[in-house]
Amino acid sequence: MKKVLSGIQPSGTLTLGNYIGAMKNFVKLQEEHECYFMVVDLHAVTVPQEPASLREQSEAVAALFIAAGIDPVRSNVYLQSHVPQHAELGWLMTTLTAMGELERMTQFKDKSSGKDNVGAGLFVYPALMAADILVYNADLVPVGEDQKQHLELTRDLAGRFNHRYGEFFTIPEPYIPKVGARIMSLDDGRKKMSKSSPNAGSYIALLDSPEVIRKKISRATTDSGREVVYDPANKPEVSNLMSIYSECSGLSLAEITERYEGQMYGGFKKDLAEVIVATLEPIQERYRDIRSSGAITDILAAGAGRARAVASVTLAGVKERMGFLPAR
Ligand code: TYM
Repeated sequence: MKKVLSGIQPSGTLTLGNYIGAMKNFVKLQEEHECYFMVVDLHAVTVPQEPASLREQSEAVAALFIAAGIDPVRSNVYLQSHVPQHAELGWLMTTLTAMGELERMTQFKDKSSGKDNVGAGLFVYPALMAADILVYNADLVPVGEDQKQHLELTRDLAGRFNHRYGEFFTIPEPYIPKVGARIMSLDDGRKKMSKSSPNAGSYIALLDSPEVIRKKISRATTDSGREVVYDPANKPEVSNLMSIYSECSGLSLAEITERYEGQMYGGFKKDLAEVIVATLEPIQERYRDIRSSGAITDILAAGAGRARAVASVTLAGVKERMGFLPAR
């Protein structure tokens, strides 16, 4: 049994990209491993958040974890801010990180480019993410493609600590799906589908109604061709829609091509919308039940309690190795 950890930010509504790239694998991995799935609220505040919406989104993301199939008895589901060891180890990781390493992070470059007053939290974000993972000595980290660079930094920091203070941290491995690791925007096949996009038509939100999903898919950009074939370099939009189709239906890309041979995009898109609706409707139904049951508070309390028990042991070991006097 391995230890698995991942997190999702409660900044805005979750998208089909978050589901396919990450959450779907959380559900799969919990069958065989000890899992820690958290709502990374401390990461969310690296950009300004309105307090009421941070509270609402934090609970909503936790409820979506459960609605998507994460079993809160088997897996630990909690908020990052409820386990203070993340922030404390995050600080210690910052002291091991070079400015140049953080400057190279593409997520930082994307989020800060062209902006005045970029917060320092956004810059040191990857050191906190490393702490999230290392504080449980996680073996596997299920994420989408965009987090790969952060994972590489985490591995470097773990190795650096081990080299300086003696073998201690497990070097974590990313777990990135082959298809669906980078779901693209519906209006531009070269941009990532993102919840922070100002154009709501460019993403499918997990809580979008069937009518909205049908409308968004019917308006999704394609190309001037007519063949449903997977060719990301030349047909990025159609290839992206095929990835979504495959991930939501279980059909392979080749099976999808075969099914729509000789047809134009209309029928393919119509069916794609239905496949997405069939994937999301049961999640939405469970989401509504969980929110109205009020069970989330207890689930988060139990998850955080178990997580703190593990994280506090790791943090004590780190502090001892680094030379901090124990408090008494
Ligand atoms: P976040 O909140 O941006 O995204 C959550 C997860 O969804 C994946 N994802 C996608 N996958 C495929 N296609 C897309 N268009 C797409 N958009 C998002 C992300 O890769 C991610 O797996 N830094 C992280 C949160 C984090 C974390 C951690 C993750 C904090 N600490 C520790 C793992 C381990 C983030 O901002 O994810």
